[in-house]
Amino acid sequence: MDRKVLGAVRGFYHQPVLCEKVVQALVTDPEGVYVDATFGGGGHSRAILDRLGSKGRLFALDRDPEAPLDSIQDARFYPIRGNFRDIEVLLGARGVSRITGLLADLGLSSHQVDTPERGFSYRFDAPLDLRMNPQEGLPAWAWLAEQKEECLAHLLRVYGDLPQARKLARAIQLSWRPGFTTSDLVQAVQKTYGSHAHRYKAQVFQALRIAVNGELEALQALLAWCTQAVNPSGRLVVLTYHSGEARLVKALYQRPTQENFCTGHKTYTWQKIAVYRPSAEEVRSNPRSRSAQLWILQKL
Ligand SMILES: C[S@@+](CC[C@H](N)C(=O)[O-])C[C@H]1O[C@@H](n2cnc3c(N)ncnc32)[C@H](O)[C@@H]1O
Repeated sequence: MDRKVLGAVRGFYHQPVLCEKVVQALVTDPEGVYVDATFGGGGHSRAILDRLGSKGRLFALDRDPEAPLDSIQDARFYPIRGNFRDIEVLLGARGVSRITGLLADLGLSSHQVDTPERGFSYRFDAPLDLRMNPQEGLPAWAWLAEQKEECLAHLLRVYGDLPQARKLARAIQLSWRPGFTTSDLVQAVQKTYGSHAHRYKAQVFQALRIAVNGELEALQALLAWCTQAVNPSGRLVVLTYHSGEARLVKALYQRPTQENFCTGHKTYTWQKIAVYRPSAEEVRSNPRSRSAQLWILQKL
């Protein structure tokens, strides 16, 4: 059965994180133009549409061909299959260059992690794929064959905060074979960290996923577009799950856009309104929300 259909039959694709807070922070004008850059299963999109008036519009993007973008039938809703790295072109083609607010809920959907053949999880044995869009670029196992050991070590260190990254990179390369699997990767992690391997498995998968999908480069492009496209007083609402993502969001409001070296006067484009974490109760009912941080910024 088609996996999109199967997801619907199972009745679960993804549980939106901090949904009420996200929508409250994002929708400052019910008749405004909004973007949900990471549609996933559409939980946040549906809640945003509930808050919009009859003239409000919501553009929603997802790069994953399995994300059920066609599951919402609403004249105010505009689905776009694509990478938010290309948002300027994707929205420009629809005549949109200014928006009221944008939501980006980064990371993976539960559907992606829980589908064994997508090769995202060490819980299942499958070729290591890790692509959010399996029709774009190389699967991780093939991508690994093209990496130099020191380059792979650098990525593991920077995207996964991993100790002994060089040793791990070597273990991966020595055990590499065509169709290198999630279990092969776990074995390389075990070879490197011995009895501490369980501590690092998730970080290793995350680091390779970030690299294979060019996640931080895409986020940088998205944030740069927001700086020109979001109207004054409009909001940028971002759910991050990794320190590299959080660093890019913080840079937006911490770094001045202009600085006068004579007077010392600094001009900022974004102001931080609030940062939230899910409550203990939300983490209990949705453990995947535990590393989430919700950033709410306002355009000055
Ligand atoms: C955490 S899920 C979003 C869940 C969604 N907020 C919901 O309520 O169901 C992240 C989604 O963003 C998508 N995604 C990640 N990076 C993307 C990118 N650069 N461009 C477009 N979609 C992306 C993934 O495919 C995934 O479906």
